[in-house]
Amino acid sequence: MISLKNLSVSVGEKKILKNINFNFEKNKVYALMGPNGSGKSTLASIIVGHPSYTVEEGKIFFENDDITELDVDERAKKGIFLSFQQPLSLSGVTVFQLLRLALSGKKDPLKVKEEIDFYAKKLKIKKELIERSLNDGASGGEKKKLEVLQAALLEPKFLILDEVDTGVDVDALKTIALFLDEFKKDKTVLIITHYYRILKYLQPDYVMVMIDGEIKKVGDKTLAEKIEKEGYEVIS
Ligand SMILES: Nc1ncnc2c1ncn2[C@@H]1O[C@H](COP(=O)(O)OP(=O)(O)OP(=O)(O)O)[C@@H](O)[C@H]1O
Ligand SMILES: [Mg+2]
Repeated sequence: MISLKNLSVSVGEKKILKNINFNFEKNKVYALMGPNGSGKSTLASIIVGHPSYTVEEGKIFFENDDITELDVDERAKKGIFLSFQQPLSLSGVTVFQLLRLALSGKKDPLKVKEEIDFYAKKLKIKKELIERSLNDGASGGEKKKLEVLQAALLEPKFLILDEVDTGVDVDALKTIALFLDEFKKDKTVLIITHYYRILKYLQPDYVMVMIDGEIKKVGDKTLAEKIEKEGYEVIS
């Protein structure tokens, strides 16, 4: 699905990711954990092609195509989607308008509307929130649900969720996690998280630990439990 080969990434003068080699397989769930500032969001950004980050060395492959030089739009068209750690607000643009544009030529606008209503119900998002400008005045937890809603409509092949569980209440967490557990079918999911709790519902096939820009350990879900109990000192 996605392969990272000898990938080193910098922002400005600062080298953040160091020689990452990793192969994400189809139909698998990966949890990426690691201390604050270790480079997790940077990894997400470089996979989607965020222009602020520079590949210093190495390559990114998507289904065997080299996508290292492709821009954000081209990668999105291939089916790579990132739900942001801090979702952006778009004044004057509703979820429907944004998604209608993103899906123009792919899905009928009427179908887009229908699907938004369908998924909003599943995610327990209030109707009023859907009709507002995107994320305008939405609470932290509401924004996270709206990100998941967008992912659902865009049907990505590779979905990255950056701290989708941060700032959401226990019920919302369960709603989001169970939704994703159903949604993950035929997709590869990379979930960046600090906590084990979301992984109880959305069980990862692999847990990866990033420390200081390197993937230091890969294990199964018991690794996440261990980290929750004992901290990152367990990684040597
Ligand atoms: N645009 C940027 N400009 C300058 N430094 C940056 C930029 N983006 C990231 N960094 C730095 O790169 C390092 C890694 O940041 P990143 O956001 O990837 O960490 P993270 O692992 O996602 O942390 P957290 O768990 O707190 O979200 C940090 O030291 C951060 O300050
Ligand atoms: Mg982050």
